[in-house]
Amino acid sequence: KTPIANLLLYSELLMEETMPASAKANVEALYKQSEKLRFLIDSLVKLSRLENGIISLSPQQAALQPLLESVVEQYTAKASEKGLSLQMQDTDAFAVFDFKWTAEALANIVDNAIKYTEHGTIRISAVSYEMFARIDISDTGSGIPENEQAKIFARFYRSNSVQKQEGVGIGLYLARQIVSGEGGYIKVASVPGKGSTFSIFLPK
Ligand SMILES: Nc1ncnc2c1ncn2[C@@H]1O[C@H](COP(=O)(O)OP(=O)(O)O)[C@@H](O)[C@H]1O
Ligand SMILES: [Mg+2]
Repeated sequence: KTPIANLLLYSELLMEETMPASAKANVEALYKQSEKLRFLIDSLVKLSRLENGIISLSPQQAALQPLLESVVEQYTAKASEKGLSLQMQDTDAFAVFDFKWTAEALANIVDNAIKYTEHGTIRISAVSYEMFARIDISDTGSGIPENEQAKIFARFYRSNSVQKQEGVGIGLYLARQIVSGEGGYIKVASVPGKGSTFSIFLPK
């Protein structure tokens, strides 16, 4: 068990105590921040394990529907907390991918879509072509200026306009590392003020 797991456990136990409302709010903040810390440390550890070859991807041919469903399930609560709708289109597409790691890549992209969108909808869909399949995650968020679209995949890069949001800038780098390791790639299309679409291409 890591220290962060204990931090979460103890703040969870604290939340069950009777206490003044002001203290309750602080304990809840403690819990929320611990969760974010866990997410951050997890990503850093995963990234360095992946980069050092400690973990390797094992891609297999499979349907994309369960993959998309698992990510939607993971993020539905977070989206609705922010008043956003998270929609998925059913798909019969399949591809060659590592379920766990591709879910991780998708989670980072959906996490961003929720974080950088104030109103509207996040849509997830997949289509199949002869040689590859494509997963699209689109949002109605802030969008990304054209001169930044190539930079956002760099390690630790964050746009100046988002500095007030929490993050360290490794989500997209990790996502790209994973998908490249599967022989695929990720690209973004975005219109500032309108939204962004991230597309993941996976071999079949
Ligand atoms: N859906 C999105 N809408 C607008 N900007 C985005 C979106 N996804 C990523 N970005 C931009 O790309 C940067 C890098 O993303 P990421 O690597 O996940 O880092 P983080 O989420 O920690 O900021 C973000 O800081 C933001 O500027
Ligand atoms: Mg991110």
